[in-house]
Amino acid sequence: MTRAEPFKIKMVEAIRLLPREERERRMREAGYNPFALRAEDVYIDLLTDSGTGAMSDQQWAGLMLGDESYAGSRNYEHLRETVSQMTGYRYTIPVHQGRGAEQVLFPELIKEKGQYVAGNFHFDTTQAHIELAGGRGVNFVYDVAFDTDSTFPFKGDIDLDRLEAFIQQHGPEKVALILITVTCNSVGGQPVSMKNIKETRNLADRYQLPLFFDAARFAENAYFIQQREEGYQHRSIAEIVKEMFSYGDGLTMSAKKDGLVNIGGLLCVRDDQQLFERLRSRVVPYEGFPTYGGLAGRDMEALSRGLKEVLDQDYLEHRIGQVEYLASQLMRNQIPVQQPAGGHAVFVDAKKFLPHIPPHQFPAQVLATELYIEAGVRGVEIGSFLMGRDPDTGENLTSPFEFLRLTIPRRTYTDRHMDVVVDGLVHLYERRHELQGLEIIYEPEVLRHFTARLQPITSASDH
Ligand code: F0G
Repeated sequence: MTRAEPFKIKMVEAIRLLPREERERRMREAGYNPFALRAEDVYIDLLTDSGTGAMSDQQWAGLMLGDESYAGSRNYEHLRETVSQMTGYRYTIPVHQGRGAEQVLFPELIKEKGQYVAGNFHFDTTQAHIELAGGRGVNFVYDVAFDTDSTFPFKGDIDLDRLEAFIQQHGPEKVALILITVTCNSVGGQPVSMKNIKETRNLADRYQLPLFFDAARFAENAYFIQQREEGYQHRSIAEIVKEMFSYGDGLTMSAKKDGLVNIGGLLCVRDDQQLFERLRSRVVPYEGFPTYGGLAGRDMEALSRGLKEVLDQDYLEHRIGQVEYLASQLMRNQIPVQQPAGGHAVFVDAKKFLPHIPPHQFPAQVLATELYIEAGVRGVEIGSFLMGRDPDTGENLTSPFEFLRLTIPRRTYTDRHMDVVVDGLVHLYERRHELQGLEIIYEPEVLRHFTARLQPITSASDH
């Protein structure tokens, strides 16, 4: 039987598709950088799934119950209880978003300059906060994670042999912590298996290293475990989530994803009271008093409710189903994507889509700009443009992948919107040989992808 969205719509927000010439003009004015577009000029916005989802009526009702007391708000108590029930962790500090948790946690755990934070693949702000705290981020996904044709079910897994060899080579005292990102955003929203999480825990114990989760998309990861891993088919999402977290010492979470809120985050510790007390002191100057940590009381209420809703089987089935629907429609039309589809986004393989455009002419950025011009859809480049330059030599770095990420906000668009995205990409695919590379005409020193300006390389300026 065909299943539809497990919700009906109570409020709508108008969107509009500008005429094609207007879209061309806006993209030119934006310096061929979709980040510089006005959101109003975008028809379907797949830039990110972060803070862009729709809240439920229950969450909106919760906003009215905000207790805006500076200390000891009842919404904090509700949040603490919800998180502790869900994760089994004793200590919870709210923060304004994921990077708020990162800036508080890493300086506490990275005790010496140059210590490593080892994980599957750190998200870019996570990597930045590791470096700001004096540490170095190192990634240990299996090579198969970069092979977009491989349908390996857990491409977010950590290659434990390589990780262990690394620890032995450098010595455990050079490793500050292990951080598992669930799902692993940077390689395509790919899940980590329970087996791998458990074995990572054993490894952490052998070398007495703390193990934390970057838990932005924890519920999507749990759904993949339920669907794909032997022995979990009959377990509820809540049970799987609890087991996952039982292997960690704590977590950072951007609640703007699976928290189903527009702003918010969490920093949690399982049972280490001393660590919690140090974090609680540090959170005050950076985020706020530890019972609100950068959030209004009403935000904490919406988050408590979101954390309960996200564990719902029907919700997750629809959520992941929509991402799979988009991926399967693209694959039916021969468009190369990271397989299997991830939890929050479809990653189009621009290396295969535009093999005639080399990495330093940013093939995935070309796809992002052309898709906006073609269909009013905004996606985001995850490749060599985002990767930037070597800080020592100034050379453009080459990313192991060139992805156009089509990130799907939660409960926001219908499958009809996905059909528009498919049509747009199919049209581009038909005339892919005509698409030209881009060159940078302005770039800032750090995090260039947000503000750089580019221009198409015409044959005259080709090099
Ligand atoms: N960790 C992961 C895995 C993330 O995907 C993000 C954000 C963060 C940490 C940081 O959280 O934005 O709340 O401070 N990812 C967004 C994205 C921005 O578009 O993928 P934040």
